Amino acid sequence: MYHLDKFHEIFVGKICEIAYNRNVIREEKRKENDMENEVSTVDSTFLQKIKPIQEKLNEMALKYYAGLTEMEAKINVINEDFKLRYQYNPIHHVESRIKSPQSILNKMIRNGYPLDAGTMEEKIHDIVGVRIVCSFLKDIPYLVSFIKMNKDIEVLEEKDYIQNPKCTGYRSYHMLTRIPVTLTTGREYVIVEIQLRTMAMNFWASLEHRLNYKFDGYVPDSVKEELISCANTVHELDEKMESLNEIIREANKD
Ligand code: GTP
Ligand code: MG
Repeated sequence: MYHLDKFHEIFVGKICEIAYNRNVIREEKRKENDMENEVSTVDSTFLQKIKPIQEKLNEMALKYYAGLTEMEAKINVINEDFKLRYQYNPIHHVESRIKSPQSILNKMIRNGYPLDAGTMEEKIHDIVGVRIVCSFLKDIPYLVSFIKMNKDIEVLEEKDYIQNPKCTGYRSYHMLTRIPVTLTTGREYVIVEIQLRTMAMNFWASLEHRLNYKFDGYVPDSVKEELISCANTVHELDEKMESLNEIIREANKD
């Protein structure tokens, strides 16, 4: 659970610090190389200039925090409702996070977006992320249908990487959603990326993510191949566990 004060401090403080450091680095590079085209403005007015961004980010931080807690609450209700009606718990656990300011900036730089709060809000859709980890494959379409049934959750986009896995071997079901939050200033909308996957897929994805991180995105081909083969084994395991679970369900009906 995020503590709001801490969250504000990290989110707003960090983003300004990174922006400031970037400018300092650029200034040093410019001096070193005397690059004419390099934009750089480190002067006493810099902090003054980013003040409006800071204020905007302050508001946005609260909005993202509200979106995260709202979505977590809605998913909890779906899980409890399911448990009550079917004596079955479709969600193994939920992981949620607000994207770190550093990752937000990296993504904006990678995509060549201007580094301002408005662009961040418009273009970066995975600032609020909720990952639903299920035990069995079949839980995923059930949960997707309950999420779609909820009138407060607007589904903007769906990507089925379970039916159509990525070339890395990655499998998960992604939904880009929008939910309303009510602040003292009125009603606002927050985009939340939901990822649904089984425990086995989650195990694979976290290992693959760590490998990518370790190799700085340049994973050797032999390791890549091994990962694809692992992803297929994971999928076979999911299917086998699914059919074993089906046997339990059938037996419980008697
Ligand atoms: P991003 O710029 O990464 O957000 O890509 P995108 O907007 O095209 O979305 P996509 O649905 O491809 O991926 C969104 C998120 O899914 C990523 O941020 C990861 O959390 C996860 N993801 C996607 N592909 C992979 C993959 O190959 N391996 C792992 N471990 N995670 C992945
Ligand atoms: Mg994305």
